[in-house]
Amino acid sequence: MNINKICCIGAGYVGGPTMAVIAQQCPHIKITVVDVNAKRIAAWNDTDLSKLPVFEPGLDEVVKEARNKNLYFSTNIDQAIDEADMIFISVNTPTKTYGKGKGMAADLKYIELCARQIAKVAKQDKIIVEKSTLPVRTASAIKNILDNTGNGVQFQILSNPEFLAEGTAVQDLLNPDRVLIGGDTTKEGQEAIQALVSIYAHWVPKERILTTNVWSSELSKLTANAFLAQRVSSINAMSAICEQSGADVNEVAKAIGMDSRIGSKFLKASVGFGGSCFQKDILNLAYIAKTYGLKEVANYWEQVILINNYQKNRFSDNIVSTLYNTVSGKKIAFLGWAFKKDTNDTRESAAIQVADNLLSEQAHISVYDPKVSEERMYADLDYLNTRSEEENRNLLTVDQDPYEACKGAHAIAVLTEWDEFKAYDWQRIYDSMQKPAFVFDGRGILDTEALKKIGFNCYTIGKGS
Ligand code: NAD
Ligand code: UGA
Repeated sequence: MNINKICCIGAGYVGGPTMAVIAQQCPHIKITVVDVNAKRIAAWNDTDLSKLPVFEPGLDEVVKEARNKNLYFSTNIDQAIDEADMIFISVNTPTKTYGKGKGMAADLKYIELCARQIAKVAKQDKIIVEKSTLPVRTASAIKNILDNTGNGVQFQILSNPEFLAEGTAVQDLLNPDRVLIGGDTTKEGQEAIQALVSIYAHWVPKERILTTNVWSSELSKLTANAFLAQRVSSINAMSAICEQSGADVNEVAKAIGMDSRIGSKFLKASVGFGGSCFQKDILNLAYIAKTYGLKEVANYWEQVILINNYQKNRFSDNIVSTLYNTVSGKKIAFLGWAFKKDTNDTRESAAIQVADNLLSEQAHISVYDPKVSEERMYADLDYLNTRSEEENRNLLTVDQDPYEACKGAHAIAVLTEWDEFKAYDWQRIYDSMQKPAFVFDGRGILDTEALKKIGFNCYTIGKGS
């Protein structure tokens, strides 16, 4: 089966970069990325590439190469669905905030809307690809909706979860550890799988393209995120013991990571993991376990989140207790707001919870982040509903210049591991601060020995003294 036209529903952090890379690697395929959010589509079409809605190193170059040649961004969803041989669904699947499964289950309303729209518009047979992260067995629900519309159109549903990490999305897409494609075991299902395999085979070595049944593919995505997050919570749990015992978590991580059975990646202690997916996917996994009656399994995975919450609160508690048990009226500078470096994404960023805790203690916070807008930071805080929007704006200010953010502060908290923080003139920062001056490095990136020589009091996550 030859694929000439692709439609991708959802122009977000996954849909945009993923389709840009497929378009660049497969110039013979016309790809249209559609979204209900007209502002987002306009930003993808902006001639000023610095205004793309997603910041990812190298993404601007890929978009520049393919856009308006074989890559299009549009709000005309029906037309793109009608034209396409293959449709990727890459819409958001957030945690439900209402009804049954509230706070745990994935909210599938956007997925269902897509399925219904496809069912309404499609006139010829199509392959539907689940790109979004979904609970196991969602494909059967999608198929049910599609098969009951009476148009007589045949649909094949594939699961093709995305494993890219933000900040390295373009590299991850160009050089993936594996591409996973799940499909039906029927002849038609296998043909659909092969159609998608042949797209990826344009740049991904065949042995890295893994095909499975649909349910294994859907569940593997949740499993991968659960395992990754579990490693971060495990090392963060150890960071608390390190601080009490005089061990250094980086040394412990190195020592265990050299065991090839454990491996060295994802062992960096931090103020807590963020990002739009780890928490949501683990909650979803725990919910699935519960619905199968597997209470112990659900409890096991929920611990990963409990440790993450503990770590964020532990960090802010430590700031308060170190600053003589009160931060009321004190200025605390935040370096970083994004959930990790090299992205403008702030979803579930540890910085938000830490800021909220300190604002509740009446601290004044000044934030500098190289990529996150002021508007985004206030939206993140307002969403928590802890205090009024006015109070948030009075207590937290945003600076475009890191030196201004730190001027007059009692303490600096490093919340994101942006490389530029390491290269700052720390003597100049120290001279401009209240004394004694404190640095709380929630990412373990600064040279604390050098900072101590300047005169700073330093706390580094997971480093005991
Ligand atoms: P996102 O919120 O950035 O983008 C989703 C887009 O879908 C939004 O722009 C929204 O307007 C659009 N949308 C929603 N319903 C629509 C509809 N009915 N029609 C048209 N457009 C619609 O989300 P994201 O970060 O790109 O994540 C998408 C999915 O991919 C999620 O399931 C997520 O778990 C998964 N995922 C995300 C990442 C990541 O790094 N962000 C990585 C792997 C997988
Ligand atoms: C993660 C996975 O790595 C991707 O494979 C997956 O596709 C994606 O989730 C998803 O499904 O959305 P992402 O959240 O973008 O990607 O970024 P990660 O690099 O995994 O980092 C997640 C969080 O963990 C960040 O806050 C990061 O700072 C933190 N982290 C990561 C640590 O604190 N320590 C580590 O050693 C690694």
